[in-house]
Amino acid sequence: MFISFEGIDGSGKGTQVQLFLDYLKRNGVDFVYVREPGGTPVGELIRSVLLSSQNMIPKAELFLFLSSRAQLVETVIKPALAQNKTVVADRFADSSVAYQGFARGLGVETVKWLNDFATGGLKPDLTFYIDVPVEVALSRKKRLDRIESEGEEFLNKVRQGYLELLKDEPERFVFVDGNASELSVHRFIIEEFEKRRRK
Ligand code: TYD
Repeated sequence: MFISFEGIDGSGKGTQVQLFLDYLKRNGVDFVYVREPGGTPVGELIRSVLLSSQNMIPKAELFLFLSSRAQLVETVIKPALAQNKTVVADRFADSSVAYQGFARGLGVETVKWLNDFATGGLKPDLTFYIDVPVEVALSRKKRLDRIESEGEEFLNKVRQGYLELLKDEPERFVFVDGNASELSVHRFIIEEFEKRRRK
């Protein structure tokens, strides 16, 4: 099973991914955890470029994310799935659609198509989208990286982009209300995971 976590910066996604991984460990699930951008030596180099560079144009940014993703799919995700492992991804292709396709205006359909090319059409079986209002997200973040410092308007667009994606693929996505307490969000995620796992 391939599971991804999505959400805007400050949605609490990182915390929820960690709690989810702890749950898998306690339950003896054989899993591989990956994060985007990154997750491979090539990807980590790309990550540091993405998070620190100034004046990068949106297309250049997109191709770096896609490049990191292509490497990750081929060298980590596909081999793990082939060994029947559970793969947990902190962000995947949907991030590019919401951030670059929708918020940066490169076009949702274009980015979807490029994602398909980069991943060979691989999609998560299950995607937890953690939703919080942008004001809540911003109040949680102390240090902002380059993309996060785009501010409120940008993150509002990203959020809108995610919500559009959910409408298109209601079966793959689980909408998670990230405004609740850490523990109740975690419990909800586990319930949904167990429902799907048993299917
Ligand atoms: P990161 O520090 O990993 O943020 P988070 O902990 O919130 O996941 O930084 C990743 C940043 O890159 C984040 O602002 C989202 C952005 N991003 C894109 O714009 N497009 C993408 O395809 C991906 C994977 C991430």
